[in-house]
Amino acid sequence: MRNPDGPSPPGGSSTGGRFEFGRNWKAFLSTVDEGRIGEAEASLREMLECADLRGKSFLDAGSGSGLFSLAARRLGARVRSFDIDPESVACTEELRERFFASDSRWSIEKGSVLDRDYLKSLGTFDVVYSWGVLHHTGDMWRALESISIPVAAGGQLFVAIYNDQGALSSLWKRVKAAYCSGRPGKWAVSAAFIPLLALKSLAAGTVRYGNPFGQMKNYRQERGMSLYHDWIDWLGGYPFEAARPDEVRRFCEKAGFELSKMVTTKGWGCNQFVFRRTG
Ligand SMILES: C[S@@+](CC[C@H](N)C(=O)[O-])C[C@H]1O[C@@H](n2cnc3c(N)ncnc32)[C@H](O)[C@@H]1O
Repeated sequence: MRNPDGPSPPGGSSTGGRFEFGRNWKAFLSTVDEGRIGEAEASLREMLECADLRGKSFLDAGSGSGLFSLAARRLGARVRSFDIDPESVACTEELRERFFASDSRWSIEKGSVLDRDYLKSLGTFDVVYSWGVLHHTGDMWRALESISIPVAAGGQLFVAIYNDQGALSSLWKRVKAAYCSGRPGKWAVSAAFIPLLALKSLAAGTVRYGNPFGQMKNYRQERGMSLYHDWIDWLGGYPFEAARPDEVRRFCEKAGFELSKMVTTKGWGCNQFVFRRTG
């Protein structure tokens, strides 16, 4: 991954105080294999409580690498993907080219979850998927309200939003802002935190697998993701907001949804929610 401005830490970069997710996803693409795709498919099947998505329409809002659009397409859905970052759009197109070249049942474009007119123009979908996206828009609650627009009556809304840890989340917000403040900030944050994250992973591997490298080896079980690219996404992912599970639940219930599945964390990761539109 070449940076025209000179060397930068591997993974995502930043412009104008925003993290360039697409750059990080571009680096991740070389790791996408059958194993990761299988894990991504399994995560969709488990959370949406279905064997496949045949006959369903699936909107991937903030598609990133495109892995979950690919997984949904492989499960049989008609897929529409969009992302605000042109490099994320390009990554999603690359995965379509690799696995579903010239496919008429998978369309990809640039778009924003904050653009209500755009969302209205898409029509409605059986499944709207926006994993780890809304908290990076700079206006999370408006994004959550807007992303409900394309959910069909009786359709499912699957969102994942960072867990609000109070003062700790505020601290991480400052770290991410520093990462995105320019080259020195990015280097300083990477130099300070990557060794800490590596130590944390070694400790987690020892506790969970009885092997310091256990977490690194098995990380793909986390929705097919890659530990290193997730570290970069975590350190740089700015804008950053977070919410408590009860806040998200209440917000969506007021908007005419009922909760069908929720997986929460006590840590700094995402709480995951699947709602069904009842109204
Ligand atoms: C952490 S990634 C998640 C990608 C993917 N959903 C996944 O689960 O792997 C967040 C993505 O949201 C995109 N994003 C941020 N703000 C957005 C917006 N306003 N509209 C659409 N996508 C946005 C970023 O460009 C990035 O690709």
